[in-house]
Amino acid sequence: MPDIGFVGWRGLVGSVLLERMREEGDFAGIAPAFYSTSAPGGPGPSGLGFDSGRLGDAHDVGALSRHDVIVTCQGGDYTRAVHPHLRAAGWNGYWIDAASALRMEPGTVLVLDPVNADVIAEGLARGRRDFCGANCTVSLLLMALAGLFRAGLVEWMTTMSYQAASGAGAAHMRELAAQMAAVGEAVRAPLADPASSALAVDQSVREVLADDGFPRSRFGAPLAASLLPWIDRPVDGGRSREEGKAFEEGNKILGNEPPVPIDGVCVRVGSMRCHAQACTVKLREDRPLDEIEALIGGAHDWVRVVENTPEATLAELTPAAVSGRLEVAVGRVRKLRMGGEYLTAFSVGDQLLWGAAEPLRRMLGIVRSHLGEAGARRPARAEAA
Ligand code: HSE
Repeated sequence: MPDIGFVGWRGLVGSVLLERMREEGDFAGIAPAFYSTSAPGGPGPSGLGFDSGRLGDAHDVGALSRHDVIVTCQGGDYTRAVHPHLRAAGWNGYWIDAASALRMEPGTVLVLDPVNADVIAEGLARGRRDFCGANCTVSLLLMALAGLFRAGLVEWMTTMSYQAASGAGAAHMRELAAQMAAVGEAVRAPLADPASSALAVDQSVREVLADDGFPRSRFGAPLAASLLPWIDRPVDGGRSREEGKAFEEGNKILGNEPPVPIDGVCVRVGSMRCHAQACTVKLREDRPLDEIEALIGGAHDWVRVVENTPEATLAELTPAAVSGRLEVAVGRVRKLRMGGEYLTAFSVGDQLLWGAAEPLRRMLGIVRSHLGEAGARRPARAEAA
């Protein structure tokens, strides 16, 4: 029975991961142990249908190194603090990580199995031990348009993202809701007055957004009734770090050599947990739209093409409609005026599911199968010896 350590299970991504594992019955047949960076000795997670025991110390390398697999959603600082010591101590287990710290290391495999099962299988066969979930925006982009990449149709792509508060973290989600509440409070009186004008409502919104007391400590600016066209820190070429990841991580996930140019602008919007993206794709050749939709929709089980009509778009292609669902929706698929090789598409996906927790949950399943197969082969080797 594989021995699996969980770190960072209390946070946003970790909670969604445990909930998905519970839903799918993934705890059957494993020996889980739960760790904490802040409260070792305390009680483990509840509601999983079994006694999760006492929390281990997430910095105890000796305790961690008894596990076949460690799954961490704790964050990059934790990974940087613990992973090198575990490896230096000779731990040869599988490290499955939500954080970005190890993603671009040459020995790390980025996991998104509906898109890159071949890259994952090759990594396992080559003895790779570090497997990381990719950036949520990138994972959701590839979940949406895997069919086009797989068909070799993408010459280049630009993406304009509309990213949810959840991508920034739990505290940011709360701050967005607090901002909405503050806006709601500010417009209560003008909305209650049927004679008040839209400009009077707008004036109240503008005043509350500019108020020193408006909650903005996390985002640094109002997001409710606004948007923020900068995510993460600056890197080269005027890009934000978030914008750089589509090219770097996207091509690594796909195992593309040479890499496909992907670039664009990343924007935070007032969605709670769904990232949306508007994509412009330069196709290598003109293909009819029905063929393109079939490629997109047929790529894997978690993508759904939404008809390019106003009714279907508003019913099925919004964060409100997609939130909490595993399927990534792709719609507004049409050719641009520039020519038959220029395609646009709009995607919406739950940032906490396929954007974060689900690739890790699935990777744990893949590692378990791999360990099972390796275990099944072991006696045969012993007999042969
Ligand atoms: N960096 C992403 C965001 C989420 O801020 O939305 C994590 O991949």
